[in-house]
Amino acid sequence: MRTRFIVGNWKMNKTASEAGAFVHRLSQELTSHAGIRIGLTPPFTALQAVRDALGPAPTFLLGAQNLYWEDKGAFTGEVSGAMLKDIGCQFVLVGHSERRQYFGDQDSWTNKKVLAALRHGLQPILCVGETLQDRDSGQTDLVIQRQLRAGLAGIEAQAVTTLTIAYEPVWAIGTGRAASPEQAVPVHRLIRQTLTELSGSDSGQHVAVLYGGSVTPHNIADFLASEEIDGALVGGACLDPVSFATLVKVAIGSTPAKA
Ligand code: PGA
Repeated sequence: MRTRFIVGNWKMNKTASEAGAFVHRLSQELTSHAGIRIGLTPPFTALQAVRDALGPAPTFLLGAQNLYWEDKGAFTGEVSGAMLKDIGCQFVLVGHSERRQYFGDQDSWTNKKVLAALRHGLQPILCVGETLQDRDSGQTDLVIQRQLRAGLAGIEAQAVTTLTIAYEPVWAIGTGRAASPEQAVPVHRLIRQTLTELSGSDSGQHVAVLYGGSVTPHNIADFLASEEIDGALVGGACLDPVSFATLVKVAIGSTPAKA
């Protein structure tokens, strides 16, 4: 049984003091969320503030939005897995499409980042997704398989089962135009199939596969109605604590329809 996972991707939003206030408000709104994992990914500069605000018995998981693959050294502007682990991160996003689009992250880099995360005991959330052009030209499956194969090259079968994958169609991110569950579900199946092929085990059945791209409190239940979709990576709708709490409450209350 896979545990549901809802992750808020803050992107480049919130100062450290805003982040602390956010966590206090979210904790008031969400006093219990048993059975579902909630992850927050503040910018690097707010990680410590969020960790402090979470207190000694955190009920939300702390994650980062990116990492560099070397552990230390002359890499101006970068942050390593060791640093993230030390500050209390449990997971890290890798290969988000904004990283790929604006900062040149290539498949070979995402691979090194996944390996670095695993080396430091951070759970990677590997993001994959096709552009509109890929989809319109019938390349979705190829692109997803390429991103998975390259991103997970050299990773042991056992480690594959510990990953989380986020399927985020690029055209659905920040556009208000979410994929329909009918569009997302076949890609989630393809992701599981590919993971199983890659690892030579039934890892595809164990890995949490999240959907991301214009998820809101209004459409989250539609996605979670499918047993293929284990949660969501949420951008815009995670920035307001009340909206994010509402989204999580809807997720807690929704059960997958029987296949
Ligand atoms: P969005 O972003 O929810 O604003 O579309 C999702 C993401 O980029 O992870």
